[in-house]
Amino acid sequence: MLRVCGLTMRYPNGKVALAGFELTVNAGEFVVVLGGNGSGKTTLLRCISRILRPTTGEIWLDTVDLAALSGERLRRARLPMAMVWQQASLVRRRSVLSNVATGALGRHGGLWSLLGGLPAAELRAAYGFLGEVGLAALAEQRAGTLSGGQAQRVAIARALAQRPRVLLADEPVASLDPEAADEIMRLLRHLASEDNLAVLCVLHQVELAYLYADRVVGIRDGVVAFDRPSRDLPREEVRQLYVSEAA
Ligand SMILES: Nc1ncnc2c1ncn2[C@@H]1O[C@H](COP(=O)(O)OP(=O)(O)OP(=O)(O)O)[C@@H](O)[C@H]1O
Ligand SMILES: [Mg+2]
Repeated sequence: MLRVCGLTMRYPNGKVALAGFELTVNAGEFVVVLGGNGSGKTTLLRCISRILRPTTGEIWLDTVDLAALSGERLRRARLPMAMVWQQASLVRRRSVLSNVATGALGRHGGLWSLLGGLPAAELRAAYGFLGEVGLAALAEQRAGTLSGGQAQRVAIARALAQRPRVLLADEPVASLDPEAADEIMRLLRHLASEDNLAVLCVLHQVELAYLYADRVVGIRDGVVAFDRPSRDLPREEVRQLYVSEAA
């Protein structure tokens, strides 16, 4: 489904944030990336989603190498990939439902945004995605009134409205309380195991990785430190990720 080969990212200031990174995420798999601050996790997700252009390497989404594309061909090729960030970033004054429906805009090109609306079928589908994250009852509420955990679930529903096959999440539970964090993690795992999405999620909470991930990838200085099933991951290997070189 998603395969990253030899991914290297050198920023214009010379900083090498990824150096030959390798990663595979299959459909139905929930993979968590763990690593210290500045180890390259966000850079990895930005390269995979092609917000950034990697310096070298390949990003295979099925049979298409996203690293080799640009412009309109890239925009189309990456439609099956949706992102969730640390902050839900909803349009606060709009309803929950209309926030979710905006996830469908990318598939309809500029036309529907110009006309100022989406087909009724997309609004019905958006309602379904809200149901999937357990918030159908809040469809008409203004997004600005939601709690952090609810807002993040709406952000996930908005990502689903894009009808992705790959879901990338960068610290999606960083600003949530433990219970809301558990809910989001259960939801992401469900999307992998039941809806067959390939889910790649960056976390700082080691315990959540052990509880929910199928596989955990450790990143250190832009390089894969380990890549193992979570049930077979020694605590010491995880601990080493967070020990500074100088120590
Ligand atoms: N635009 C940029 N220009 C130069 N260097 C950058 C840029 N963005 C990130 N970096 C550097 O690349 C390295 C990796 O950054 P990145 O944001 O990917 O880390 P991270 O693992 O997501 O960290 P955190 O856990 O703090 O979110 C860091 O040393 C960072 O300072
Ligand atoms: Mg980051």
